[in-house]
Amino acid sequence: MYEPRVLSGMRPTGALHLGHYHGVLRNWVRLQAEYPCLFFVADWHALTTSYEATQAIEKNTWDMVIDWLAAGIDPAQATLFVQSQVPEHAELHLLLSMIAPLGWLERVPTYKDQQEKLADKDLATYGFLGYPLLQAADILIYRANMVPVGEDQVPHVEFTREIARRFNHLYGREPGFEDKARAAVKKMGSKRARLFDELRTRFLEQGDHEALGAARALLDEQQNLSRGDHERLFGWLEGSGKKILVEPEALLTAASRMPGLDGQKMSKSYGNTVTLREDADTVSKKIRTMPTDPARVKRTDPGSPEHCPVWQLHQVYCDEAKREWVRTGCTSAGIGCLECKQPVIDAVLAEQAPMRERAQTYLDDPTLVRAIIADGNEKARKLANETMREVREAMGLAAT
Ligand code: TRP
Ligand code: SF4
Repeated sequence: MYEPRVLSGMRPTGALHLGHYHGVLRNWVRLQAEYPCLFFVADWHALTTSYEATQAIEKNTWDMVIDWLAAGIDPAQATLFVQSQVPEHAELHLLLSMIAPLGWLERVPTYKDQQEKLADKDLATYGFLGYPLLQAADILIYRANMVPVGEDQVPHVEFTREIARRFNHLYGREPGFEDKARAAVKKMGSKRARLFDELRTRFLEQGDHEALGAARALLDEQQNLSRGDHERLFGWLEGSGKKILVEPEALLTAASRMPGLDGQKMSKSYGNTVTLREDADTVSKKIRTMPTDPARVKRTDPGSPEHCPVWQLHQVYCDEAKREWVRTGCTSAGIGCLECKQPVIDAVLAEQAPMRERAQTYLDDPTLVRAIIADGNEKARKLANETMREVREAMGLAAT
């Protein structure tokens, strides 16, 4: 009943690079084949830090969607949309803001960190403080239970869980909850109902977590319950109210080991990137001019790969045989640095070739991209509205 659902978003910050590809997009491509996935452009989140210069947001949005498609995100498998085109996110954000304790927001580590890091910007705004709450709304509105994110975003998912719990605690206690829950148990059939009651008692009276797990599994198997009954029983099982909002789990994306052109982590702010669709000549030139082991001044000087940024790219792009060739050739001055770089250049170009090709289709006909997003926006709105109907009702806002 709580169908698996993956959701993740990215701020439109400009052309994506190979670090994004190895760190995030490849993971999304894998997930889209396994689960229903929603991927969206967090353009409102971009506003929180660049409210003074908004003119690039729209172009960045379209460029980023093309990068996603180029990387292999498939609109036939995943739903792609733009946050600002699903205004229900803003409604949920507002409603959640009523119950979000200021202290929780102030304690989210990114709040102070980012203010210090972006000291040239005035981030003492209401919107910036609310960044994690908007993210919580993004996640909760789709009842997404899996949120692939990097380590820095884990506190935001944890915050989302706390907000969901608080919401369910405050608004999950509808009138007649007990009676409704008991009636729902009966619908499970007498044998399963008895087992469910037993497991619930074992959990509530003895704190038996195995019993809790077994009871949840029982609910998940139960096909004949309405969504409302399912939410009731999930809550009732734990001695709480209806679980209207689903607590998500972070799917921690392993930190990308993608090195940049200077050996530091690839990052736009270090100016050491290769973008996803960078043209082949520029890519070759960038790698040919990469710094190498500073001890190799002359071609005849032996070097050590451990002191060379190119070696880190060999780790990503070359097989063991090639790496052995590098180790031997470098330490014996048997190969030159340009020769050594060639397999890396070839591998990067080979990786990019299908991306450039896929992107070309969309660059030739931008209406294709618009249509993909229009379709995704619509699907997202439909899902968002299902949740919002329940949220409004639970909060006493269903007056029609
Ligand atoms: N804050 C995320 C980032 O900077 C982007 C984001 C916005 C997001 N809303 C989200 C990620 C919801 C996952 C789920 O990377
Ligand atoms: Fe680096 Fe290769 Fe030159 Fe050695 S031969 S210093 S590993 S580029």
